[in-house]
Amino acid sequence: MKNLDINNLRENYNLDHIDFSNVRKNPIDLFIDWFNFEKSNNYKDVNACVLSTVSSDNIPSSRVVLLKYLKNDEFIFFTNYNSNKGKEISCNNNVCLNFFWVNSERQVRINGKATKISEDDSDDYFNARPIESQIGACVSSQSEIIDIAHDFTNDVEHFKFLHKNKKIKRPNHWGGYSIIPHKIEFWQGRPSRLHDRLLYEKCKEDWIFKRLSA
Ligand SMILES: Cc1cc2nc3c(=O)[nH]c(=O)nc-3n(C[C@H](O)[C@H](O)[C@H](O)COP(=O)(O)O)c2cc1C
Repeated sequence: MKNLDINNLRENYNLDHIDFSNVRKNPIDLFIDWFNFEKSNNYKDVNACVLSTVSSDNIPSSRVVLLKYLKNDEFIFFTNYNSNKGKEISCNNNVCLNFFWVNSERQVRINGKATKISEDDSDDYFNARPIESQIGACVSSQSEIIDIAHDFTNDVEHFKFLHKNKKIKRPNHWGGYSIIPHKIEFWQGRPSRLHDRLLYEKCKEDWIFKRLSA
C-alpha cells in the first residue's frame, strides 16, 4: 500500500474578498470581471475549466475543457460529439463547469444545460483553428480505445496526403456545446477558511443572489 503524507499542506487565502454590500446584479458581469482580471495578468490557461457530466447509470465524470466563447450569456466549448462526454450529454444534458483560478484564489461553479450549437457556428470556429488542430480533430476518435503502440504521425501524414490542397471540412462528429446557466457560484478564498461565497440562481428571467456560508 502506498501513502502520501500531505495532511500538513496548507495555504492561507487573503488576496481579496467579495464586497457583499455592492454585488453585481448579473453573474455574467461578475464572471467577465473575474475572467478579464485573470487574462489581464497573463495567467496561463485562464479559459480552462472542469466540465462534469453524469452517465445514464448516474456515474459522474469530470475533465478539463477550454471555454471558447461566452456568447449571449451562454458558455461554449468544443469537443468530439462521440467522446465519453458527448455520449453522456446526449443522455443527460445537466452539466457543471468549474473554473479554479489559483493565482487569484477564486473558483466559479456554473450549473446549466448543454446543447449542441448550430452547424454554422461550429464550422466558423473549426475554420478559424490552426490546420494542425483541424487535422487532429479529424484523425482522432476521442475516447475510443486504441492500440498501445498507435502512432498518430502516420494518421496525420495519411490525412495530409488525402487532403493535399483541399480545404479541411469540419467532421460531423466535432463541434461546440453551449451551456445555458441557471446557477453560478463565486468563491473567493479568505483567511481561516472563512471563504466568501456568492450564489446566483436564475428565477424566470431574473437572477437572484444569496450569500452562502463558507
Ligand atoms: C488544459 C486542457 C484543455 C483541454 N481542452 C479540451 C477541449 O477544449 N475539448 C476537449 O474535448 N478536450 C479537452 N481536453 C481533454 C479533456 O480533458 C479530455 O481528456 C477529453 O476531452 C476526453 O474526455 P472524455 O473521454 O471524458 O470525453 C483538455 C485537457 C486539458 C488538460
